[in-house]
Amino acid sequence: MSAEFERVLMPRSPAPVLAIDGPSGSGKGTIAHRLAALLGFHVLDSGSLYRLLALAAQHHGVGLDNEPALQVLAGHLDVQFQQSPAGQAVIILEGEDVTTEIRSEEMGKAASMVAALPAVRAGLLQRQQAFREAPGLVADGRDMGTVVFPDACLKIFLTATAEARAERRYRQLLEKGFSASLPALVEDIRARDDRDINRAIAPLKPADDAIVLDSTRLGIDEVMARVLREIEQIPELKRLLK
Ligand code: DC
Repeated sequence: MSAEFERVLMPRSPAPVLAIDGPSGSGKGTIAHRLAALLGFHVLDSGSLYRLLALAAQHHGVGLDNEPALQVLAGHLDVQFQQSPAGQAVIILEGEDVTTEIRSEEMGKAASMVAALPAVRAGLLQRQQAFREAPGLVADGRDMGTVVFPDACLKIFLTATAEARAERRYRQLLEKGFSASLPALVEDIRARDDRDINRAIAPLKPADDAIVLDSTRLGIDEVMARVLREIEQIPELKRLLK
């Protein structure tokens, strides 16, 4: 069969996507990175794009409710995702390393505010879909399985109570030497959940065909073991496990 004949008649199927959605603090970022390492896949941390947009808005003096200006900014976001020599992810916004800065609670809240605007979501859609490259992608977010990659071959919705998620965050902050208030963290998480769940567009919710995993009483290794059990049911993914 000629290469041209093959290209026209047998178009290649798009790279497989695993969608890991859920609220903040559910452990989806850790699971997404571990899965990507096991499968040799790329990773999309879609929340980082909303955080980067919020930070860019701050740099350019754009209000977090200025939808037309945010849409323009989303279309022109000058971002590079790089790796340090030690293999750590490094995020460069307009030439500046913002890897740590975008992880603050303040940026999380600002990201959740800009993410509620339909024009912003439309402006970031193609940028997210462009991460889908061979051999495959693990995509982490809120609407990966419902909107961005509805044809994902596996959809996991990872959840946990607000108290359990706040407690994980509390321990992380103390380990890093920051002081923190547990009741304030529970309140922040509830407010963010409320905004993400109740927005009019692409709200945080499991896709109809998602597997919902409650990690309230599970450690990260147990969650990983359950996800791997699901992967083993999918031959195209099973054969890639390292
Ligand atoms: O996952 P994260 O905490 O970095 O996300 C920050 C905010 O971005 C989150 O509160 C809601 C928004 N977000 C979203 O609306 N859709 C996504 N796919 C990812 C994040």
